[in-house]
Amino acid sequence: MHCPALPQPGRIRACTGPGGVSPLPRLEPETILINAHQMVTLRGPNRPRVGADATHLGTVPKGAIAIKDGRILHVGSTEEMLRRCAGSDPAIIDCTGRLVLPGFVDPHTHVAFAGSREDELQRKLEGASYLQILKEGGGILRTTRATRNSTAEAIAAQTRRRLDAMLATGTTTVEVKSGYGLTTRDEIKSLEVIAQLQKEHPLRLVPTFLGAHAVPQEYTDRPDDYVTLVVDEMIPQVAAARLATHCDVFCEEGVFSVAQSERVLQAGKDAGLRPRAHIDELVNLGGAEMAARLGAVTVEHLVCTTDSQVELLARAGTIGCLLPGTPYMLMDGRYPQARRMVQRNLPLAIATDCNPNCWIESMQFIIGLSCMMLRLTPEEAITAATINGAYAVGLGEEVGSLDVGKRADILLLDVPTYQHLPYHQGSNAAVLVLKDGKVVVDRRDELHESGAEP
Ligand code: NIG
Ligand code: FE
Repeated sequence: MHCPALPQPGRIRACTGPGGVSPLPRLEPETILINAHQMVTLRGPNRPRVGADATHLGTVPKGAIAIKDGRILHVGSTEEMLRRCAGSDPAIIDCTGRLVLPGFVDPHTHVAFAGSREDELQRKLEGASYLQILKEGGGILRTTRATRNSTAEAIAAQTRRRLDAMLATGTTTVEVKSGYGLTTRDEIKSLEVIAQLQKEHPLRLVPTFLGAHAVPQEYTDRPDDYVTLVVDEMIPQVAAARLATHCDVFCEEGVFSVAQSERVLQAGKDAGLRPRAHIDELVNLGGAEMAARLGAVTVEHLVCTTDSQVELLARAGTIGCLLPGTPYMLMDGRYPQARRMVQRNLPLAIATDCNPNCWIESMQFIIGLSCMMLRLTPEEAITAATINGAYAVGLGEEVGSLDVGKRADILLLDVPTYQHLPYHQGSNAAVLVLKDGKVVVDRRDELHESGAEP
């Protein structure tokens, strides 16, 4: 039997199996990717992956994938794909020498903001802490001033550039929080910017309401009144306008207490917003117990969470969303104890946390940091950046793996195997990005052929 390695444009020649055995049921895709040196499918159980499941990537050598109507039609070997597409005329994308992955899912970002805070890096190098800078009116409060003083168009223009950078590095789904408005009008303005960007940008955006990101300066002496504003005014308006699917809170010393956080998340839950929470980034206040009580979808940071709290979260079905870029940028040397979390069966996602304190768009970089600083294996880090990220934003049935029926969010990377992703750092390996089956990033002409064995 002979099938061409790379068919010429035009109909794929009909081939039969050995001894002329009748072909498998035919496929009529619009596009096929073929000859991938390695294809990582992430196929597996329909749930966030823990333990051994988080190490099984479902790799296919010489892989191929077929696309129709923006969805995945078939996943398998190139040889089988060509046989099954015999007589059809799809567009063909040759992936020789390269790696195919599902598009990355970045499940935690604050990417909708105005301005920047590059001078705070100098303060941090001199030893200033994150909470000290915030207390002085810097940090989140400073970005809040910049965001309040910007028009929706200006915030959109700045955010669009970051979304472009995310897409260019292989992210196809991203969660985006409000949280730099801190008035009803300004929070809604940010969420409307996110809704507008969703209409015009190829990235899939998942909007989260984070009105409880900081106590704004006008409420410094009466934080409970601000919580009341969030609960009584902001949440009902955000939910009624369907501007968010999730509600978040920054539960931290000097920001919101456990009781205040619980008020916010409970009100969000009552209004149909799924709860998630920033906990234990700097100080352990007991946010894990609160998140478990509320059945939070995810908890984020987890830098100083105890083993028994991790066990509690695992029992509650919560996903741990680790943000290694944040301690990296804070330079305080404290990272989440990811291996202890793996041992306790907490499903893990990883995210950029892209914000003006931690301005990182690339999930490739976060995969590297997760291996180097959290000691996740490459398999665990890739699972956390794809399928577990998808479950973290409520889209586990739609994206995050290369499975028949899912959205054709596909990434072609200029490395031969997934082990190269955390290992070969500092450049962008993305060659081609497909969102819903459409090519949205194409760098094939910029890059030399890999020269690797097909
Ligand atoms: O997750 N820690 C709270 N929120 C963000 C930081 C936001 C900022 O500093 O602007 C985070 O790291
Ligand atoms: Fe965050």
